[in-house]
Amino acid sequence: MTVASPVPDHILPGCVWDHDFASFLAEGDDPYLAGARLHERQGPGLIWATSAAHGGPAWIFTHNATVEEGFADFTKFSSKRSANMAVMDDAWLLLPVEADRPDHRFYRGALHPFFTPSAMARRNSAVQELCDQLIDGFIERRSCEFISEFSAILPNAIVISLLGMPQDMLHHFLAWEEDIIHGATIDARRAASESVLEYLKDFIAHGPENELMHGIRSGMVAGRPFSAMEVLGTVYLLFVAGLDTVNSTLGWIMNYLAKDQALQQRLREHPELIPAAIEEFTRAFGVSAPSRTVAEDMVYHGVPMKKGDPILLPTFIAGRDPHAWPDPHRIDIDRRARHVTFGRGPHVCLGVHLAKREMRIMIEGFLGRMKNIHHPDGGRRDYHTTNTIGFDRLDLAWDPA
Ligand code: HEM
Repeated sequence: MTVASPVPDHILPGCVWDHDFASFLAEGDDPYLAGARLHERQGPGLIWATSAAHGGPAWIFTHNATVEEGFADFTKFSSKRSANMAVMDDAWLLLPVEADRPDHRFYRGALHPFFTPSAMARRNSAVQELCDQLIDGFIERRSCEFISEFSAILPNAIVISLLGMPQDMLHHFLAWEEDIIHGATIDARRAASESVLEYLKDFIAHGPENELMHGIRSGMVAGRPFSAMEVLGTVYLLFVAGLDTVNSTLGWIMNYLAKDQALQQRLREHPELIPAAIEEFTRAFGVSAPSRTVAEDMVYHGVPMKKGDPILLPTFIAGRDPHAWPDPHRIDIDRRARHVTFGRGPHVCLGVHLAKREMRIMIEGFLGRMKNIHHPDGGRRDYHTTNTIGFDRLDLAWDPA
């Protein structure tokens, strides 16, 4: 066995898993089935991966129940960034996601009013119009490359409009994001992140102030105003939280629907079932693996852990846990699954109502305007397993409705 990084003394030998997590997920042709192989291991579903987050070692929680505890129990699991997880400069945090209580409440409180179900309902027509326009662009062709022509654009355009940025920034952002995810070298990827950061700094300093930006700029934490770094960390998080996650989820939903004509037809005839379908899709197609660090030395479900140990909570493995759902790889929109794809507890996703609205409007738009959506012969379905689990390319075809 080749150990990628030295195993600390406190790790039980039975917990050591000497693999590179991203490469393990990329084995075969379905990353969800690849990840679910971890459920075949005996024990509490707590493994010490020698190469997990950004190549460093970390605990990976695999059971749905422990992933849920990892999210919700902030006394055992801290959201502060660990050195192993660092992709950003240490001087600032992504807020509110990398803050613990009590400060977390202030950071989240500054954003909360802008992400309630009623605030999101007011965005409905903007999401609907954009979705219609994007579909108009390819409907007559009877085929599209779903990622570059739809799912990468929709969430970007929405976040740009939420923050009041000029819509002509869309193409710059798409190009930068492409480089952040697929840049040929680490330097190319870092340079693209820097470009986004520089733009955001300039936008914060000189850009127009809509309600959301006003809320962030006038945020208060424990009686003092947000520092410049806290404003930047909040705006940057909003930017990254709602792009890749939505893009990837929309991709997995359409990839699945293209294989299940019966479900397409059922949802066309009964659009009132679309919210239940979204719950089941999001259970089965979690895309992110948020991180935590162990807050204090402890023995957790019989496993010793040390303060500062990094942890990953892969929602795409938790959602396929056979201990939690019978036949977890089967999509069953009647099962009413309660899942952790949007997190749980104090940090539960603030953008969940927006994300679900984007999913619903997309499903209604595609199913309403197209019949027999399918994977064309010879079409491509390329995906990545680093950062989020998402598509790089997804070819779709259909018949006119
Ligand atoms: C399908 C799409 C999405 C998924 C799967 C998703 C998933 C998640 C998860 C798992 C967390 C918890 C992270 C943690 O506990 O460390 C989270 C937090 C968060 N999400 Fe989302 N998200 C999605 C879309 C969005 C959108 C569209 C936005 C906003 C534009 C957004 C904004 C946030 C914010 C601000 C937080 C931090 C909340 C806090 O720390 O209190 N998300 N998301």
